[in-house]
Amino acid sequence: MAEFKNKVIYQIYPKSFCDSNGDGLGDLRGVTSKLDYLAELGVSCLWLTPFFPSPQRDNGYDVADYRAVDPRFGTMADLEELIREADKRGIGLMLDMVFNHTSTEHAWFQRALAGEKKYQDYYIFKEGSPDKAPTNWVSKFGGPAWEYLPALGKWYLHLFDVSQADLNWENPEVRAELADILRFWKAKGIQGFRFDVVNLISKPAVYEDDHQGDGRRFYTDGPKIHQYLKELNEATFGRDPGIITVGEMSSTSMENCFRYAGADGQELSMVFSFHHLKVDFVGNEKWVLVPADFGKLKEILFSWQEGMAAHGAWNAVFWCNHDQPRVVSRFGDEGEYWKESAKMLANVIHAMRGTPYIYQGEEIGMTNAGFGSIDQYRDVESLNHFRILQEKGLTEENAYQILQIHSRDNSRTPMQWTSGENGGFTTGEPWIEVNKNCSYINAEAELQDDDSIFHYYQKLIALRKEYDVIAYGELKPLDEKNPSVFAYEREYQGEKMLVICNFYGKEVTWDSETELGEYQCVLSNYEVHNIEGSRIGLKPYEAVVLYKK
Ligand code: GLC
Repeated sequence: MAEFKNKVIYQIYPKSFCDSNGDGLGDLRGVTSKLDYLAELGVSCLWLTPFFPSPQRDNGYDVADYRAVDPRFGTMADLEELIREADKRGIGLMLDMVFNHTSTEHAWFQRALAGEKKYQDYYIFKEGSPDKAPTNWVSKFGGPAWEYLPALGKWYLHLFDVSQADLNWENPEVRAELADILRFWKAKGIQGFRFDVVNLISKPAVYEDDHQGDGRRFYTDGPKIHQYLKELNEATFGRDPGIITVGEMSSTSMENCFRYAGADGQELSMVFSFHHLKVDFVGNEKWVLVPADFGKLKEILFSWQEGMAAHGAWNAVFWCNHDQPRVVSRFGDEGEYWKESAKMLANVIHAMRGTPYIYQGEEIGMTNAGFGSIDQYRDVESLNHFRILQEKGLTEENAYQILQIHSRDNSRTPMQWTSGENGGFTTGEPWIEVNKNCSYINAEAELQDDDSIFHYYQKLIALRKEYDVIAYGELKPLDEKNPSVFAYEREYQGEKMLVICNFYGKEVTWDSETELGEYQCVLSNYEVHNIEGSRIGLKPYEAVVLYKK
């Protein structure tokens, strides 16, 4: 398997990255035009979210054809050029494989609708009367997870939008088709795959109502999931040392992740788990307004760090992606300590054991969109919940407050390249509004400032390559119950690294168990440090990385 421990992966949401032809949508040529910027940052691999033909009900996660490029994003020749140009800069490409479901516009679903039995068996169809769905399961985007088709007299399962029909992995023909798609992309020189909600693909043998929850306990980490992943691995990427794989694991358990991302490489290289990003939810309910629980955040991150390491399994480490709000708005400070807090948050993740992922714009400190009018929103999940929240009795104002914090559109606004019109993203009308703060938060300004967030990310990426302790060392949490300091120690072959971060905007002192004078500071978001013996005084959002051999 490919060496991925000292690499950093950068996520691109092509629709919002860079528009090369002025139609208001980002495209593949736009990505190619920014490769030098990405090479300068120092990332090794680009994960591109889906650019396949799609009706775009869920921004491309509703795939209508897995082997082509949607004309909105360019052509296959554009993609081949991107692969070649990235390769020249030592950067690989990772594609997003949405294999839990297809768009209902996919030819397979269309043929199923036309009555072809073979293709009906590609999906999860159930006979039943139109007034009662086969189970009471709830879609992840709100509303029932089943849709009735009068023409067929059948229901089909959609764990996500009604236009995203779940595939039937029980059917070996489906598994063979999907493996073939991976081989197709491998042959084009793709070096990585991210598997969308892949721990939901194995459905239970019996479909029954869930009287305790929304149904997820029946299909999350389902009965044959490990068998399916092993099979896919063997049939496609498993024997190829150049390929990196990551599975998006929805509501998963750590025990399952030991196997998904085990050192034996039988399934995947690593996993995304999301428990640490539910610390501002109530249980699994994200459409609420509660403050983030720092104690829980540390506890979850540390338990995954230690648990996965104890089993030789590997984490992807991250704060942001296209489904999460911007981290500086979520756990940092968009105002006075914008720069310091963005750097500190980056530091917490990048010095951990695991492969870090950066989501476009995170490296320049982009903030939430905070849209205050429903016609500014584009995301299907947000639009559904804006309605659902009000149906539950919330005022419109409350519904907006919740969307402004949790909507996925917070991270989908266009990349801010310059302070100019539309942040330099497009010369046309952007498909979603550009954040007004592009006047001062933009890549151009960041590149010019030696002390910028961009340059801090660049240093963190370089540090992982320079100090083996980051990529290969053990991690030990320090002072776990401290209410404001996030600290841990890394150790590898006699090298030690201490990462000490003040998570808040108030100064604090922190007492270490060791003499800090023996260490050398290799990175920090402040120039001067207040260290005396084993005590360190931390300024607002200060992050310090200390090292000794
Ligand atoms: C994943 C994707 C998300 C998408 C969903 C359904 O969670 O990250 O954007 O909506 O799967 O494909």
